[in-house]
Amino acid sequence: MEKEEWNKVSRSYYEDILSPLKNSKKNPLFSDLKNLKSKRKNIIDLGCGLGELEPLISKYFKHVVALDISPEMINKAKLKNKNLSNINFYVNDISDLKRFHSKFDIALSINSHISPDLKKLDKIFKETYNILKKKGVFIAIFPAMEVYLYQAMLLAQKKSRKEVARFINDKEHDFLLGIIDFEKVKQKCYYQFEISYRLKKAGFKNIKISKVLYSWNEFEEAGQLKFLKEDLPWDWYVICEKNYII
Ligand SMILES: C[S@@+](CC[C@H](N)C(=O)[O-])C[C@H]1O[C@@H](n2cnc3c(N)ncnc32)[C@H](O)[C@@H]1O
Repeated sequence: MEKEEWNKVSRSYYEDILSPLKNSKKNPLFSDLKNLKSKRKNIIDLGCGLGELEPLISKYFKHVVALDISPEMINKAKLKNKNLSNINFYVNDISDLKRFHSKFDIALSINSHISPDLKKLDKIFKETYNILKKKGVFIAIFPAMEVYLYQAMLLAQKKSRKEVARFINDKEHDFLLGIIDFEKVKQKCYYQFEISYRLKKAGFKNIKISKVLYSWNEFEEAGQLKFLKEDLPWDWYVICEKNYII
């Protein structure tokens, strides 16, 4: 998705998007942010969207930079957080962050590293590394590609292959590149091994991957299938470091 599409999404965001900040059942982000809390640390929120996380991180950290490619997202995020004094907002593409190099203790990406252009994605991961200070921490939530295979498997317990392929079809799901087409708008999703590969390639160390869990009902509301008796669907949650010192 590019700027204009995200501007459009900003007008009905929580109706269209399954948010790990609002709709998750378990999300390690909140305890990790609490553990990292310090009035000496600077944090950047890459792809801040409507600024949902800013009240919390503004309370926990010294200075917050919140940026997004979409001017409409930034305007709404500014309005929502107008009473907070330690935040600066920028309209900025996260594939070019030169002005922010080596400035942050913590970088966040909550489902924002989702460009389907794989060359651009490489730049985004490298720039994420570059904006951190020496022992900086990167925390991210990445949409999981495996949940589509998981849904297919669960559906195949009850339905024919033809019917499974009708729901989880090749046109909308590119399982080779990990790209999903949401009504003609493409978005990157990640296999777990790809997350490790991309983070290591960018230089990150001490990579720990776990899950953000969603309820089946929330998942269904976001246009997916539901299997109430089965283990819950997820996004990938990651915490890693710029320089891991043993
Ligand atoms: C799924 S939303 C997540 C928003 C927010 N992090 C949250 O969780 O509420 C993805 C956000 O990333 C932004 N975004 C996507 N590609 C971007 C890019 N290349 N540079 C900066 N922001 C981008 C979008 O405009 C959108 O606000």
